[in-house]
Amino acid sequence: MHFGTLGKTQFRVSRLGFGSMGLRGPRTWGVRVVDDAQAERVLNAALDAGINLIDTAPDYGLSEERIGRFLKHRRAQFLLATKCGCDPLQHADQLEIRHTWTAEVVRRNLETSLQRLQTDVIDILQFHGGSAETLQQSGLIELLQTFRKQGSIRWLGISSALPELPRLLQLGVFDTVQVPWSCLQPQHSDCIAQAVAKGCGVIVRGGMAQGGPDAQIQRPVLNDIWQRAQLDELVPSGSSRAQFILRCTLSHASHHSVIAGTASLEHLAENVAAAAAGPLPADLVEEVRRRVHAVLQ
Ligand SMILES: NC(=O)c1ccc[n+]([C@@H]2O[C@H](COP(=O)([O-])OP(=O)(O)OC[C@H]3O[C@@H](n4cnc5c(N)ncnc54)[C@H](OP(=O)(O)O)[C@@H]3O)[C@@H](O)[C@H]2O)c1
Repeated sequence: MHFGTLGKTQFRVSRLGFGSMGLRGPRTWGVRVVDDAQAERVLNAALDAGINLIDTAPDYGLSEERIGRFLKHRRAQFLLATKCGCDPLQHADQLEIRHTWTAEVVRRNLETSLQRLQTDVIDILQFHGGSAETLQQSGLIELLQTFRKQGSIRWLGISSALPELPRLLQLGVFDTVQVPWSCLQPQHSDCIAQAVAKGCGVIVRGGMAQGGPDAQIQRPVLNDIWQRAQLDELVPSGSSRAQFILRCTLSHASHHSVIAGTASLEHLAENVAAAAAGPLPADLVEEVRRRVHAVLQ
């Protein structure tokens, strides 16, 4: 496993992190349900492989509870990032995701997350969206700073995207930023540069384009970009397309950690191998960028 510095946190983070949204369990959304036994195997295998950043959220069904239950005894081995502003509503079969920007909800999120995750401290508490104006006017940034002084969180983060992200970064209060990026969806490149200039740790989601054309759950929009850019021509022999996409993302030093999610031990092993292989040659990364840019014009 390769490691990098997560911006001003100075934490030595594994370049490959783990996103646990796929471990959300029943009565949430999507077509697949991962059971407890598989969640336990995958979470432990992620740590065994040297991954030391796990991302979750109160919005992800059983994910927080499973991390607490299955990794409590290994808590010192990883950086735990969860989210706040989450006000999900459980219906009979489905979880409705809602975000509410009040102190009551954020306090409740922190209390519930600490309990479910079976920990005394959340390493990174990220606002799960929200605009600069909302977070400032509601006093929620000060609230997180109070949590930090009290010792229940270590760092303040934001998980966001365009169009809100540039204004949020200008506030200069976040230690980390979570942002979508892959060679098929490079629209946040400037935001990432802005975040690095502010000293933020950059956590990339969507960094393997959900498995790209190799995914079990297909994403037609991403596959169309892949096809039109004729990226099959560039995949080195012996590499899957998913591994190629992940390595492209990891080839950028400014992407401090890429939280790739999977519920499959085989895919986890593939992702770990891709991360271990290190960056792709710079001219290959540039050729991918050039081709995708031409398609997205
Ligand atoms: N707004 C937000 O804050 C936000 C939004 C979205 C996500 N997130 C976070 O970011 C994390 C990552 O999200 P994401 O969108 O990148 O991915 P994700 O939702 O975690 O899912 C990744 C997808 O890629 C597939 N996959 C993984 N490795 C593969 C491989 N080697 N070959 C083929 N398919 C593979 C997985 O399927 P298998 O299970 O079959 O491997 C899964 O369907 C999430 O888990 C969550 O923690 C945050």
